Amino acid sequence: MRVLVTGGAGFIGSHVVDALLAAGHEPHVLDNLSSGQRENLPQGVPLSEVDIRDTPALSAAFDEARPEAICHHAAQVSVARSVREPAVDAEINIVGMLNVISQAHRVGASRFVFASSGGALYGETSEAADETTVAMPISPYGIGKWMGERYLDWAAGELGFAAVSLRYSNVYGPRQSVEGEAGVVAAFCRDLEAGADLTIFGDGCQTRDFVFVGDVARANVAAIERANPGEAAAVNVSTGEAVEINMLAGLLGELVAARLGRDDSGTPRHEASRAGDIRHSLMDPSAAAERLGWYPEVLLRDGLERTVAWLVGAER
Ligand SMILES: NC(=O)c1ccc[n+]([C@@H]2O[C@H](COP(=O)([O-])OP(=O)(O)OC[C@H]3O[C@@H](n4cnc5c(N)ncnc54)[C@H](O)[C@@H]3O)[C@@H](O)[C@H]2O)c1
Repeated sequence: MRVLVTGGAGFIGSHVVDALLAAGHEPHVLDNLSSGQRENLPQGVPLSEVDIRDTPALSAAFDEARPEAICHHAAQVSVARSVREPAVDAEINIVGMLNVISQAHRVGASRFVFASSGGALYGETSEAADETTVAMPISPYGIGKWMGERYLDWAAGELGFAAVSLRYSNVYGPRQSVEGEAGVVAAFCRDLEAGADLTIFGDGCQTRDFVFVGDVARANVAAIERANPGEAAAVNVSTGEAVEINMLAGLLGELVAARLGRDDSGTPRHEASRAGDIRHSLMDPSAAAERLGWYPEVLLRDGLERTVAWLVGAER
């Protein structure tokens, strides 16, 4: 299938490109390179350097790529920036997404996978959230993801789209930056490599559900292949395992020290919790198994080892 990956030069999008190629599909990337990088892409994958807010350029890129399916990852990804500049967030994450939906409809690309966010939709979870858990976004970023899902309901019902919103938990892995939702992994690695103390906000007993980026990329391929015309599904892409931040810090300390041949694995420093930080975020991935035949495969230690190998030292 010819698949247009918006945001395909970014962290998750570039892994989606790799997984599409491995599954025999033909990815074409559309990205304005605001945070994405050309070097993230394998040789030979076409790149349209276009902003999803620029309708004429977007239209020309769709004519060139002639996609049959879309993986929509282009976005303003910072929750903090969405609070500071909600209108900019909406221009990219709501109007920009509508531009992509409209172009997809124009060229007859009705398979549509959307990078949504479980963390931003569910917020604090007392137990693992499934897809029936009521979404209560509290940031403009979360509201934008919720709106994106609602527009896909409309596109499935009125335009016949086969749509899947993948609600990611905290995605980590090679090529990630400190800006994204699981930026804590990259931030810890950066501090450990520099020999600085890790900063943990609060007591460190807060938990997150970390999913490896290669697993997320496979979920995209499954969603593209299995989406049903006229239906907009929303599916969690997570592990269902709660990882304490103290535990993450300890494990990364050990892995970074081993990689750099150091004895000292660093001592975390605790600072006051940040306003708005949630305590627990956990998501049930059972529906993805039923609907997409998808399971997370990479265990945390293995995934962190691969991440450290990329983020720390010379492998980049
Ligand atoms: N990282 C996570 O843990 C996580 C969790 C939930 C959802 N998501 C979603 O996954 C998607 C990818 O996120 P990521 O972590 O890979 O971030 P990223 O910043 O690496 O990727 C975003 C990509 O979109 C591109 N982009 C940004 N604005 C654009 C625009 N106006 N026009 C065209 N391209 C534009 C950037 O250059 C970049 O390549 C986003 O939609 C994000 O909201 C990420």
